[in-house]
Amino acid sequence: MACYAKQSYATSTFSDHFQQQFLASKLHISSLPFKHLALKNNKVDLLARKLLYISSVTGAKFFDDTKDSNPQYPLIQCKAYEAHRSQPIQINIEFDQKAREEAAQRLKIGVYFATWWALNVVFNIYNKKVLNAFPFPWLTSTLSLAAGSLMMLVSWASRIAEPPKTDFQFWKTLFPVAVAHTIGHVAATVSMSKVAVSFTHIIKSGEPAFTVLVSSFLLGETFPLPVYLSLLPIIGGCAVAAVTELNFNITGFMGAMISNLAFVFRNIFSKRGMKGKSVGGMNYYACLSMMSLLILTPFAIAVEGPQMWAIGWQNALSQIGPNFIWWVVAQSVFYHLYNQVSYMSLNEISPLTFSIGNTMKRISVIVSSIIIFHTPIQPVNALGAAIAILGTFLYSQAKQ
Ligand code: 3PG
Repeated sequence: MACYAKQSYATSTFSDHFQQQFLASKLHISSLPFKHLALKNNKVDLLARKLLYISSVTGAKFFDDTKDSNPQYPLIQCKAYEAHRSQPIQINIEFDQKAREEAAQRLKIGVYFATWWALNVVFNIYNKKVLNAFPFPWLTSTLSLAAGSLMMLVSWASRIAEPPKTDFQFWKTLFPVAVAHTIGHVAATVSMSKVAVSFTHIIKSGEPAFTVLVSSFLLGETFPLPVYLSLLPIIGGCAVAAVTELNFNITGFMGAMISNLAFVFRNIFSKRGMKGKSVGGMNYYACLSMMSLLILTPFAIAVEGPQMWAIGWQNALSQIGPNFIWWVVAQSVFYHLYNQVSYMSLNEISPLTFSIGNTMKRISVIVSSIIIFHTPIQPVNALGAAIAILGTFLYSQAKQ
């Protein structure tokens, strides 16, 4: 038997074959999983072989054929005519609630990822602009943490965000995470103050190599052979990029390497600390920022200090003008926002998906910073970066 869809002019038998044809038709519902067809009024079995003309399809409607008065499941509603009748009959195509939720979840993760990358690109651009005019990475790192802490305190006080319920044990387990986060953050910022943003991120794409080395040598973990093999392009690519970097600087290189190492420990401690805790990603990152701020401030004062900051600030203001203040605000606020979104997405996805997202993020930062700062880059250098990034991707696949 055949059916006729007015919009698409597709014909098909009203059977499993109907499902394929109909769902693949131009009615654009092919991505939604098909569960079963039900006739609303007389529950005629539509799998019976009768010719139907489908005249219109409307969006989701709620109808549950097991509980007449209590609609529950999302439906696509079609108006159809049996071939030999002139009166319309109503067909409701029921979609699984779970699939609908999954589609919404995929959309949510997509939005998280796009926001995370965009915020990260903006942070990196303003961070570098600030560091070019005001080369005080310890202070700029401190300001990023301070801005985030302040924003979250205001959000909690005004109830824009619900404050977390924490206890002493929570802060105790957060402490090693915060130490690692502080070291990783300051080291990356020092690196970016000395070398091109793209170079810092190329070296930072080597983080998986540090994860495997630390987990193998310090934690005694073993990995499948493909994981070890994926480290070859990562290490090789980073090495090629480093050796051929036109503006190589050892402090910049070491800063990125130290940041990699620190962030591996941050992830290990984070995983242990978060087990069984009910603090969500956004609040977890807020608490992390606050503790890191407390840890970093005395070191920033000791390493750079208010006198140097005051002179540097005046220089930057005279070079750039009042816009410089907005650059500082932008780098601080965007630092917090991108990290907050990344922690929120970590709540929703597996660490594997997260690491793929992080690799894609590096590509967007490398490419956009090369364009914006007109970073000179040799083809062999770009090749090294591409190999390292490919290795990172292979690593995430091998770890599955
Ligand atoms: C930082 O300043 O903390 C680094 O730029 C972080 O880098 P990542 O989040 O890209 O690893």
